[in-house]
Amino acid sequence: MREKIKLKIEINRARCNFGIAFDIDGVILRGRVPVGGSPQALRRLYLDSGELIVPYLFLTNGGGIPETKRAKELSELLGVNIMASQVVQGHSPFRNLLKKFENELIIATGKGDPALVMSEYGFKKVLSLEEFASYFESIDPVSQYKRWTTMPQSDRKEPAMPRYNVLSERIKAAFVVSDPVDWGRDIQVLCDVLRSGGLPGGANNNQPPLYFAADDLEYQAAFPSKRLGIGAFRIALESVFNRINPKRLECVTYGKPNPFVFKNAEVILSQLQSSSRQDHSKNNRVPGSHPFEMLYMIGDNPSVDVKGAQQAGHPWFSILTRTGVFQGKDNHAEFPADLVVDSVEEAVDYILKRECIELGA
Ligand code: G3P
Ligand code: MG
Repeated sequence: MREKIKLKIEINRARCNFGIAFDIDGVILRGRVPVGGSPQALRRLYLDSGELIVPYLFLTNGGGIPETKRAKELSELLGVNIMASQVVQGHSPFRNLLKKFENELIIATGKGDPALVMSEYGFKKVLSLEEFASYFESIDPVSQYKRWTTMPQSDRKEPAMPRYNVLSERIKAAFVVSDPVDWGRDIQVLCDVLRSGGLPGGANNNQPPLYFAADDLEYQAAFPSKRLGIGAFRIALESVFNRINPKRLECVTYGKPNPFVFKNAEVILSQLQSSSRQDHSKNNRVPGSHPFEMLYMIGDNPSVDVKGAQQAGHPWFSILTRTGVFQGKDNHAEFPADLVVDSVEEAVDYILKRECIELGA
């Protein structure tokens, strides 16, 4: 029996020249609730001992909390042990901007704890937009009508002295890390920062760089119909800014469907591949050839997940589920996926059968 199991493991190890990227919202979760049999589907990618046998990661345009925290949260919700390195969020590539802004004063906004996300990446002088705004009396003229705060519990204290000299030091960049919570305030304060060269109250045409973690117009979430995403906020900000400012808004958007997101996923998956097994295929591989014969992107949003996989090209194969943004009977007309299935469970079943992996079946 033991020999049989050992043999099975060896076969699977030798054959695992594929990887999987899972979208989260609308594929794995809706809100905080697992959908499409996601816990069962993920469990099939591990041995009974808990060893990861199929390299996989989460490729989400969502975010707002550090990857370590998100991995812990996902592990609890899904019942498998997920490592931080398996979680790629929309804002994860902001790390690459560290060289440029490590010691510069920057602001970050969005749901969750955007300032914590940025400081964990190594940015030394980061303020949440909320904290930044609190140092400017009356910057939000309707704030007294708001009976909520978007500030994380840990930061909720009366701002005594600004942590940085925000009245004289310019903001060098603004980051929209996740879905903004208070659109009105954020549009107002971002317009102030961007039109004044980083010093609200003044006028200066040098717009500081503005970065968005993603550009999703809509996403699924828990409500029956789609919700406005970070891309909708970008359009709102842009429309207002371009009406009140002579120079058009300049911004950079990250996240899927950008091809670099898929390239980065390939790198992470190949690291997982070599750490999760003795890489038998390595020795036989033609130098310079791809470590994977197939990489599967399982998503719910045709214009984000499927388009991204299509643009990335070989070895990506797109699988569209019907548990989120896409609910159609047939394939999507503009961005047809390589395969359409009802759920992530069906997608994983298809992949494991196609790759001749029998584990957990
Ligand atoms: O806010 C999250 C949403 O924009 C998309 O998340 O996991 O579907 O890429 P996901
Ligand atoms: Mg999604």
